Amino acid sequence: MELNKETIIQYLRERQSEISFFDPDADLHSEEIGDGNLNFVYRVSDTAQPKRSLVLKQAPPYIKILGPDYPLPSERLTYESRALEVYNRFASGAVPAQHYFDSDAAVIVMEDLRGYRLLRDDLIAGKVNQTVPDQIGRFMGCVHSQTHKNNLDSVSVDRYREDFANTVMQSITADYVFTLPFTEHETNFYTDGLEPDVKQLKADEAFFQQAQNLKKVFLTAQQGLTHGDLHTGSIMVKDNSAKVIDAEFAFYGPVGFDIGLYWANYFLSYFSHTGNIAIQSELKAAIAQTWDTYTTGFQMVNASQKSRTLQQIFHESIGFAGMEMLRRVIGAAHVRDIESIVDKEKKLHIETAILKFGIFLVKERHNITTVYELVESL
Ligand SMILES: Nc1ncnc2c1ncn2[C@@H]1O[C@H](COP(=O)(O)OP(=O)(O)OP(=O)(O)O)[C@@H](O)[C@H]1O
Ligand SMILES: [Mg+2]
Repeated sequence: MELNKETIIQYLRERQSEISFFDPDADLHSEEIGDGNLNFVYRVSDTAQPKRSLVLKQAPPYIKILGPDYPLPSERLTYESRALEVYNRFASGAVPAQHYFDSDAAVIVMEDLRGYRLLRDDLIAGKVNQTVPDQIGRFMGCVHSQTHKNNLDSVSVDRYREDFANTVMQSITADYVFTLPFTEHETNFYTDGLEPDVKQLKADEAFFQQAQNLKKVFLTAQQGLTHGDLHTGSIMVKDNSAKVIDAEFAFYGPVGFDIGLYWANYFLSYFSHTGNIAIQSELKAAIAQTWDTYTTGFQMVNASQKSRTLQQIFHESIGFAGMEMLRRVIGAAHVRDIESIVDKEKKLHIETAILKFGIFLVKERHNITTVYELVESL
């Protein structure tokens, strides 16, 4: 059942007793707000009190922007719904409240983050809020540790593995982050003038070996609940509040993948602000702050086990950050932070620096021991 702007109002009315948000006789207005690639996202509001509103997200059984010829299981929304539940349990308020989930129609009805902006937009505008890394670091630290295999009995671990066996989405990420950008593939594109660097990268055996290792970790490490797509477009912010959205890639995997993606997108922002030292130093502070609050939020009773676990997560996060940076420059999905740079020469210069730094992170991750060393290697 594919909903549209008109039919969602009827859909919500028919579920009035389960959702019980709007008055039964309220006049409702709907609009499509989703600008994403995969799913439909709508806002429904009460015409008489427009601030009373909900968001409805529906996953069609295909990729929204490509159409029905490009199938993608709508179960992705079941994983998103389950992740929202776990997130609310361990990090209450860090995600939008979930009002209703319909697995047949692949629909989530959730809190409207009205007035929130995408973190990516703020970073592009040079607005670096130091409470965001604080909150996101704590969110990741809490969720990763509370769902971590070292903190749970085997029955609970098995339950998480089953509940988050999101294999289709996981393998899409594996392809688009770890494999395709480094092969000849029709979805890859990059700036003219970057060919020599890309050629050199593709011939770098040591890099290739490390990329394979990281891919293996990505596919096989079952450590804890991993959001799987935690870039700066999956975080919404307002004043001093940050909320995580879009958990359709959630799986039971290497938790450092979340930190890696988050850091990588701050690094990308850092490079995009080349020439503005003040913003760059705020970004560095934000990256370091994330790790500080992550380690504080990360609870593990046995101190030496906590320290070993965090060390492994740290090194894997750095490697994943490197892979994410590279694929955002030479793979299929680029970021606006970089794509919006109009001066072609400046963009090429910045992208060359991103490639260099991404390769460095992948190859040298074991030799970086503290987050301060990490940001100082920029
Ligand atoms: N709860 C919410 N409140 C307000 N706006 C929201 C909410 N959820 C999503 N949005 C808006 O809709 C956009 C798309 O949402 P989301 O990222 O979940 O969809 P998606 O189709 O999975 O995207 P993608 O193709 O990036 O995976 C977000 O960028 C945000 O602007
Ligand atoms: Mg999504």
